[in-house]
Amino acid sequence: MTAPQEWLSYPDAPRIGATPPGPKSRELLAQQAAWESEAVVYPKYFPIAVREARGATIEDVDGNRYIDWVSGVSVLNLGHRHPRLRAALDHQADRIWHSLELPTEARIGFLRELRSVLPGTLRDRARVLFTVTGGDSVETAVNLADFAKKRHGVIAFSGAYHGVHGGAANLTSGRKYRQTSSFHGGKVVRVPYPDPYRPILDPDGGVAGTIRFLEHLMNDPYSGVDEVSSVLVEPILGEGGYVVPPDDFLPALREFCDRHDLLLIMDEIQTGLGRTGKMWATEHAGVTPDILCIAKTIGGGIPVSMVAYRDNLAPELPAGFHLGTYRGNPLALAVGTEVIKILKEEEWIGRVARVGPKLLKRFQEIASSHPSIGHVRGRGFMIGIEFVQGGAERGPWGERAKAMRREMFGRGLLMHTCGPSDQVLRFIGPLITEDELLDRGVAIFEETLTALDTGPTLSTPARRGVPGIPPPEHPPGPHILPPTHPLPAPPPPGRSLP
Ligand SMILES: Cc1ncc(COP(=O)(O)O)c(C=O)c1O
Repeated sequence: MTAPQEWLSYPDAPRIGATPPGPKSRELLAQQAAWESEAVVYPKYFPIAVREARGATIEDVDGNRYIDWVSGVSVLNLGHRHPRLRAALDHQADRIWHSLELPTEARIGFLRELRSVLPGTLRDRARVLFTVTGGDSVETAVNLADFAKKRHGVIAFSGAYHGVHGGAANLTSGRKYRQTSSFHGGKVVRVPYPDPYRPILDPDGGVAGTIRFLEHLMNDPYSGVDEVSSVLVEPILGEGGYVVPPDDFLPALREFCDRHDLLLIMDEIQTGLGRTGKMWATEHAGVTPDILCIAKTIGGGIPVSMVAYRDNLAPELPAGFHLGTYRGNPLALAVGTEVIKILKEEEWIGRVARVGPKLLKRFQEIASSHPSIGHVRGRGFMIGIEFVQGGAERGPWGERAKAMRREMFGRGLLMHTCGPSDQVLRFIGPLITEDELLDRGVAIFEETLTALDTGPTLSTPARRGVPGIPPPEHPPGPHILPPTHPLPAPPPPGRSLP
């Protein structure tokens, strides 16, 4: 166990004094509700106003302290306000904050560090194009693939989440801006992601059916697909439910791309930078993408993103191919350089590779005596716990996962849902979460699960509403609408699943 004085987190978390939301939180939440758009989502899940945060914990304005297993959805792999990141930010704040694309020491230092940790043959041989958000990075990757291949269209997967702000180019009038945007009438061919728990094309939980279907799309003149430039994939589905595909999926996809002269775009926005126990999730499969999308943790909490791509991919990329005033912000890049150095120099990724499987096993052991959990899967510190109902049917039970989220919040543990019906609770704690906090979090998870499974209702403080905003009761998932038809049934019990 780490000695408390070495902790990055508040050692006494969780500490729930004033019933959340406490009076100060309620006041700020009410003002937010009055002045900000109704479109905000997270205050509906976790109705508190935040005062400050440290490591894997946050403190609300009423003094309650929570274990943070949301991590800004994988933005905070190194936790909140890591001392080395703060020092890097302070250092840069004394120099320059904005320089458009003019080189700064921060920018060049960042490029050097990033290139040194890229996967496979991209290492030290990639070019980098800066963007601002994750969605921006994915759009740019697809535009780049279309430009490089002189074809227009991308194969993407069901369950995928790549961001929402495609379409801005449709509103910009200059032809020169629109002609490099695939999202101006962009063409997407959708293929089911190979989900071993709820298979669609591969009832045996493999990938042969998925690859057969992809071949059909390319080879059959009646498939309805004219031409595409690329395949866009998440190595593990993030918002789609923390679905870990079979081990041979990414290698088979790489071969498929090579057979058909397509570019492989890997979206590592949620999986990258140590989250799965390697720097990049694609490294588990030994696959090098042609284009890699990077965001979230790379800025340690400061918005910055980028694509890294094979240096011979598009040698004649015109100046201004992609634009954006804030791309490559020096403050973010100074922090980003330090993020990479910490991941290289300190033991966090190795620890995730060691501790992640143990945590997975603990969640699986807990699940074995709780039929409300149908499947526990994951890699490293990216673990999905899927709630099911309906006996052998095992239909997705989003209401139970959301009830867990609400009740755990009242006990001081922040954990978020994902999946098409919000039926998956995800463990996505910072890589630096202290052992003791992992134990406390798992204990809260188990205690809440037992309480929900054995009692018809619970009345924890988290159920209280806030004046001016609707109570945190089952708000819709932020990204994925529930399916209008039941998901396919999982394989019969007894079949081993990854
Ligand atoms: C895999 C993946 N791609 C892209 C995005 C979009 O990133 P952003 O919200 O920064 O646009 C996300 C966000 O959750 C993501 O998880």
